[in-house]
Amino acid sequence: ARILMVAAEGLPFIKSGGLADVIGSLPQALSNKGHEVRVVLPLYRPIAEKYHQDFQLEAQYSVSIAYHEVPVNIWSSMVKDVKFYFVEHKGYFERDNMYGYMDDGERFAYFQKAVIEMLNQLNYFPEIMHSHDWHTGMIPAMCKEGHSFDERYRNIRHVYTIHNLAYQGNFGVEMLDSCLGLDYRIYDNGNVRYDGGISFMKSGILYADKVTTVSPTYSQEILTPQYGEHLEMVLNIRKYDLWGITNGIDIESWNPMTDPQVPYNFNKVNVKKAKALNKEALQKELGLTVDPDVMLVGVVSRLTWQKGFYLMMEKLSEICQMPIQLAVLGSGEASIEEKMAQLEAGNRGKIAFYKGYNDSLAHRIYAACDMFLMPSLFEPCGISQLISMRYGTLPLVRETGGLKDTVTPYNEFDKTGNGFSFTNYNSDEMIQVMYNAISVYYDRPEDWKTLVRNAMDTDVSWDHSADTYCQLYSQLHL
Ligand code: GLC
Repeated sequence: ARILMVAAEGLPFIKSGGLADVIGSLPQALSNKGHEVRVVLPLYRPIAEKYHQDFQLEAQYSVSIAYHEVPVNIWSSMVKDVKFYFVEHKGYFERDNMYGYMDDGERFAYFQKAVIEMLNQLNYFPEIMHSHDWHTGMIPAMCKEGHSFDERYRNIRHVYTIHNLAYQGNFGVEMLDSCLGLDYRIYDNGNVRYDGGISFMKSGILYADKVTTVSPTYSQEILTPQYGEHLEMVLNIRKYDLWGITNGIDIESWNPMTDPQVPYNFNKVNVKKAKALNKEALQKELGLTVDPDVMLVGVVSRLTWQKGFYLMMEKLSEICQMPIQLAVLGSGEASIEEKMAQLEAGNRGKIAFYKGYNDSLAHRIYAACDMFLMPSLFEPCGISQLISMRYGTLPLVRETGGLKDTVTPYNEFDKTGNGFSFTNYNSDEMIQVMYNAISVYYDRPEDWKTLVRNAMDTDVSWDHSADTYCQLYSQLHL
């Protein structure tokens, strides 16, 4: 089918979180299965700076936002078989950050409106629009309600994927009419109403033909008040159209055998030797004590409460006593960043913290570490544990969402498993499992070796899940 993916971020152009990994790899995987896939993203400043000269101008027009005609330029570029479109507006998107502004609602209302009108301008009407997360949650309603008299729009089928229910895009009701061009009727009838305003996320859930999220376990969890972020009732209405499809990763760009960012490339056969060499190199790079035998634990993450940093912070003194080294890469909440910087300062040689996002360093951490720590409070899918496994780095995770679906804990009796896990969001349980993992690493190296092999044998590609998306699309009755 002809499919247009609409999202706020995507690799190779821009990334703040796992959404970008998915938008950078799922379209190509679907294209390999015979679909014609295109993607549309906002043209943020870093994209403009790096790529603008290579882009083609596709269309110029304007849309009405807050009773003003606001110009739109559409640019495009091919990445392998996938055509990427970019919505350009300097004022809205060429800023220091991607998100976190007072006018985010207006910015993404503009983005969605520009995308809807782009179809008309390019006379390109996909059979399926596949929108992702709150930034694009109004797309189905804009086609079905805003353009209900135009069959070119009315005929489009909609898939809406929830990557993270915690970010919902809730705004004042006036936006409906002034920015989105929608009637107050859909506020009055409750379809988009949330807490006295409107919710992009809720609208996406209710108006899409199919709703998906990024793992089977998360798709069940979000039906409960514990994980439903106050939308569990809405999700329960769509329960029979809600699919949980586990993310894959691009196994070509994440390939330890060919990864150009990794000093010593490896596969299952030479992983042990190469890891020791990669570890030495990383220890030098990050100012850790050089010791190829010490267990090196990695964290590559947005530093937010979601990722379980509060559990780690409760146990900092224990973690500092453990016979391990810790390498942390990421940025996010200021309080967590400060704690990590303090921790590094007090434990030079043992703990290293790199604040920021550094893709190339991330590759080297995945390659050099023995274990990857991801004790999330909730995790729709999680990408890092998949990359870790591919690089022979055993994930230690909490059994929630996609972590539960992708990591099988070590079983010391039958030597199965591809990582370690604990059940409750409780720092004592986490510490217990960390000690267990440490003892396997130092005292039962044969078992560790088996686990590393199992991890590297785990299928983390898109292949299977892309088939599931194809099945889902085929149920849309085009
Ligand atoms: C969000 C979720 C993460 C998921 C990613 C891609 O970042 O927090 O769990 O892997 O989206 O779907």
